[in-house]
Parts: sequence; structure tokens; C-alpha cells
Amino acid sequence: MTRTPFASRPTMRTIAFTLPALALLLSLPLSADQAAPATRPTLDVPYVPTPQEVVDKMLEMAKVKQGDVVYDLGCGDGRIVITAAQRHGARGVGVDLDPERVAEARANARKAGVADRVTFRTQDLFKTDIREASVVTLYLLPEVNQRLKPKLQKDLKPGTRIVSHSFSMGDDWPPEKTEYVSGSTLYYWTIK
Ligand SMILES: C[S@@+](CC[C@H](N)C(=O)[O-])C[C@H]1O[C@@H](n2cnc3c(N)ncnc32)[C@H](O)[C@@H]1O
Repeated sequence: MTRTPFASRPTMRTIAFTLPALALLLSLPLSADQAAPATRPTLDVPYVPTPQEVVDKMLEMAKVKQGDVVYDLGCGDGRIVITAAQRHGARGVGVDLDPERVAEARANARKAGVADRVTFRTQDLFKTDIREASVVTLYLLPEVNQRLKPKLQKDLKPGTRIVSHSFSMGDDWPPEKTEYVSGSTLYYWTIK
């Protein structure tokens, strides 16, 4: 059998169907999976969780109790405020710029049964309202603590306790207490 040279050529009918279909396909919005990935927030500090024994020591150092409102600025998976609610009966607010961390923290709070006593905000810690805090916990970086210091001193009420994992506030605001646990240094201040 001889093959006609026209056998594989598109007919006018094929073209008439294909071109509009192609145009439609190109004009369709992309599905969530195909869409360009959402831009990630630019973090001031990378995510590194505080080990649980260090969390326990931070809350013990601040003498967290029922009635306290514990703010963790840069809360990661929420472990500090969740522990404050679960073991000390406090209320907690966690703030993180990364929505993935906030989603994880909310899921962890539900699992721990404290979702009614903790709140997580997807927010920049420099812009969040911290005035109701009675305890603030931090695990940031030295220069971030330095930048945050004026906000802490201006916005927090006298008597508010602050505990920072690993990093101090510089020579001009020395800690009132320093403790060591599992290779970590913890610093403690109160607002005067
Ligand atoms: C070192 S981790 C500490 C996590 C948690 N506090 C803990 O101790 O387990 C720092 C966290 O700060 C968050 N972060 C970085 N820059 C931030 C910003 N400008 N505002 C709010 N969160 C920020 C990061 O996404 C990260 O989860």
C-alpha cells in the first residue's frame, strides 16, 4: 500500500477545532498547583525551634502563672505559648511572619487542647501590638533584639517580664538574671 503524502497533514476541520481549543487553554487561569509559588516573607530570623527543656526553663524563669498573657515574638510552631497555656494556665499570643509557621502553630494548639487560650497572628513582630503582654519570650538574634529594645521599653507595662533564649539586649540593658540549660543561655529582664 502506498502512503499518500497528505495522510498526516491537518485538514481544515482539524485546524478549525484545534486553534480555538488552544486559545481557550491559554486563557484559562492556572490552578493553585500550577500557579507561580507565592513569594515567601523575608524573615529577620530563620526558624530554629527552642528545645522543650529550654522552653520549660524560660517559663519557669518568668514565673508564668494563671492570669498571665504570654507573647512569643517570632513564635515558630507555637511551642512556648502552647506550653504556657497547657502547663501554667496562662493565655498566649504567638506572632510570626511566616504563614506556614502560624498554620502549624494553630494545628499544634488544637492538638494540645488549648486552642481557646492561645492566638496566633501572621504579623511582623515589629508592628504587632504587644501592650497587653505580661510576659514576652524571644528567640531572635542579637541585632534583632537591639532593634526591638525601644519597642519593648516603650510599649510594655511596668512589671512585664521578658525572657530571651541565647541573646542579650546589649551592654546598655543588662539582664537581671541569667541561667543556663542544656547548653543554652537564658536572659531575664523586667520592665521598670
Ligand atoms: C529562632 S525561631 C524561634 C521560634 C520559637 N519562638 C521558638 O523559640 O521555638 C524565630 C522565628 O521568628 C520568625 N520571624 C522572623 N522574622 C520575623 C518578623 N519580622 N516578625 C515575626 N516573626 C518573624 C521566624 O519565622 C521564626 O519562626
